[in-house]
Amino acid sequence: MFKTSPEVGGMGHSVKRKEDARLIQGKGHYVDDVHLPRMVYGQVVRSPYAHARLKSINIENAMKLPGVLAVITGEDLARAGLAWMPTLFHDKQMVLATGKVLYQAQEVAFVVAEDQYTAADAAELVEVEYEELPVLVDPHKALDPASPILREDREEKSNHIFHWEVGDKQATRKSMDNAAVHAKVHAVFQRCHPAPLETCGCVADYDTVNKHLTIWLTSQAPHAHRTLFSIVGGIPEHNIRVISPDIGGGFGNKVPIYPGYVCAVVASLTLGRPVKWIETRSENLQSTGFARDYHMTAEIAADKDGTVKALSVQTLADHGAFNAAAQPTKFPAGLFSICTGSYDFPNSFCEVDGVYTNKAPGGIAYRCSFRVTEAAYLIERAMDVLAMELKTDPAELRLKNFIPPDKFPYQSPLGWTYDSGDYPAAMNLALKMAGYQELRKEQAEKRKNGELMGIGISSFTEIVGAGPAHTFDIAGIKMFDSCEIRIHPTGKAIARLGTKSQGQGHETTFPQIIAQELGIPAADITLEEGDTDTAPYGLGTYASRSTPVAGGATAMASRKILAKAKKIAAHLLEASEADLEWEPGKFYVKGSPSKAKTIQEIAFAAYTNLPEGMEAGLEAVHYYDPPNLTFPFGTYICVVDIDKGTGEVKVRRFIAVDDCGNIINPMIVEGQIHGGLTEGLGIAFMQLIDYDESGNVQGGNFMDYLIPTAMETPHWETGKTCTPSPHHPIGAKGVGESPNVGSPAAFVNAVVDALSHLGVRHIDMPITPWKVWQILQEKGIAG
Ligand code: CDP
Repeated sequence: MFKTSPEVGGMGHSVKRKEDARLIQGKGHYVDDVHLPRMVYGQVVRSPYAHARLKSINIENAMKLPGVLAVITGEDLARAGLAWMPTLFHDKQMVLATGKVLYQAQEVAFVVAEDQYTAADAAELVEVEYEELPVLVDPHKALDPASPILREDREEKSNHIFHWEVGDKQATRKSMDNAAVHAKVHAVFQRCHPAPLETCGCVADYDTVNKHLTIWLTSQAPHAHRTLFSIVGGIPEHNIRVISPDIGGGFGNKVPIYPGYVCAVVASLTLGRPVKWIETRSENLQSTGFARDYHMTAEIAADKDGTVKALSVQTLADHGAFNAAAQPTKFPAGLFSICTGSYDFPNSFCEVDGVYTNKAPGGIAYRCSFRVTEAAYLIERAMDVLAMELKTDPAELRLKNFIPPDKFPYQSPLGWTYDSGDYPAAMNLALKMAGYQELRKEQAEKRKNGELMGIGISSFTEIVGAGPAHTFDIAGIKMFDSCEIRIHPTGKAIARLGTKSQGQGHETTFPQIIAQELGIPAADITLEEGDTDTAPYGLGTYASRSTPVAGGATAMASRKILAKAKKIAAHLLEASEADLEWEPGKFYVKGSPSKAKTIQEIAFAAYTNLPEGMEAGLEAVHYYDPPNLTFPFGTYICVVDIDKGTGEVKVRRFIAVDDCGNIINPMIVEGQIHGGLTEGLGIAFMQLIDYDESGNVQGGNFMDYLIPTAMETPHWETGKTCTPSPHHPIGAKGVGESPNVGSPAAFVNAVVDALSHLGVRHIDMPITPWKVWQILQEKGIAG
């Protein structure tokens, strides 16, 4: 089908490899560690231009280089009907460019060679002639009818993608008109990138004899990816095995399907050899799923005493060249409508417009439940601006407007039913830990001396656990998740889940759930995820959905096993089931605790001594469809000092009180919070994927796109409250993304608070020393 060197065209192989077993999840292997016999290497040729017509592509010189096996172009893929692929969100995306390119670093050709150095050299020899076109990087300009249409492939001749609105517009307007006080903030949540430890990559291995495709893939959702590979590529699903080993972090970046994966699969199908493609750091930052890029305006109406009455939100969502947002089908702006946050707004209206620009596609949920980070940031900024308007304390204002604990389950004006919450409890604990009143006194003293100290508060509400099948699907697949547990005769067990840990410690916490339910020690349980040939079907791990959904499945599968175990115990103890009591680890006869059978004895009997007519074995699988999402929350308080000479912001203290319901493993939750806060710090102060007017990416490497090191990271002071989820089988809520969702507003609020007496109301992230120094200079107080 494609141009290949004569000595390799279409050769197959059918060796079953030992490596398969070693590379199954949990054994410490990354995709890049996969080495297979006869493996070859792929390299993507990328566009240097952000918007240009493709005049010609000449691959002759590249093909002449010894060791080059194939060069695939968009035209080749077009002939096979594969030039475009569907995105996860009602759009399509070029695999390799045909006609024109739409962003810098877009995939134009794919070179395959015997080694990666030859592939890189050959990529340089692919000659592409471009004709530059006008570039649009500003989403506001992109909506101007006079601007060029970027997506010529679409019927709609406009750069506007969608308009989405929710809430009561009229009631909100009326409430706004009648209110005594208004607070308005324009905030850009900048384009940033998850920058996981390992970049994306795959090894695609098509066995031409057995017509079977194995893909080692950096995937947060291996089953969904297998289904999409099957539907798009036309390979029967039972002939595809996706293995997602240790993937080096994901943070939402490894949810989409990228052109590099598809090209590696096509190359393996063509050459009949395993093809490895691993992107570089710059390729990852420049071309894979970005996050945020939301341009937002919020207006709050309130009474003079500070009681909030209405919230109105308008947002422009920059999606880049293709709408490749990875989010549930029914939500064009994800769960952004959680933007009323922790406050009891009687009325609210929220509208979002999506727009195409000449930037990389994405809009992924970076440690975030589909735009909840943008929502939490906006409302927490707006509440601070309201406090400034009212000249009131931001903590007091929040306490006054919190949804009261007795109002749960709470129906939000934008349609969500919050399961449980006690916001004053988290806030009061955080204020106490911080010594809030003393800090305010210290700030007043410092101000008198001309020193700049700020205190920032964020009291966020999260929405995680996507999601209930009646509302949530991705590409049509309902967002349940699954767990299969098998108890072996000696009482040891293996559990397999449809989720995929990327460092969140599922190997520890899910066995703990089983241990809690069945009394089998966690150390006696093996946990496997990420292999579609063995794990039950699930939607994967992102958006803190593992505990709310797969955690529920794990508890429910355990309970199915327990029900059978009880019947076996009754048989062994010659008692009726009604007379048995359970304590974790054993059944005993009521009133005779010594007449007992342990779960291990019951497991042995499940294979050796069963009641008449009972099926052998002790195992269960459960596909859990959660009745609702879970709503974790917390209060964060940040204390900063600003150096007037350099504009540098020093985070002196950061207090984080989180409530994720019942906690399975306190140490893991603590680690999740530390990690998320550190990412939030990076976003607030350092990180931006920016573009110049020609569409050149600024921030495409780690010299420009900064990752916080131990030097910048403060000591995190953490606290917990516990408000269990009433509908989750073990009362747990998700936690992984809370710190990343809640912290940016606390950092920004602290810096603005330090400068508020100078009339500063808002500063867009990242708050760099240069930006702060310019403000100090403007205000005439730079040191
Ligand atoms: O989906 P993801 O694993 O990223 O997020 P999560 O469900 O918030 O869980 C992150 C880690 O924290 C997992 O190992 C959870 O089991 C653990 N966790 C916990 O121990 N207790 C909770 N209430 C929530 C999460």
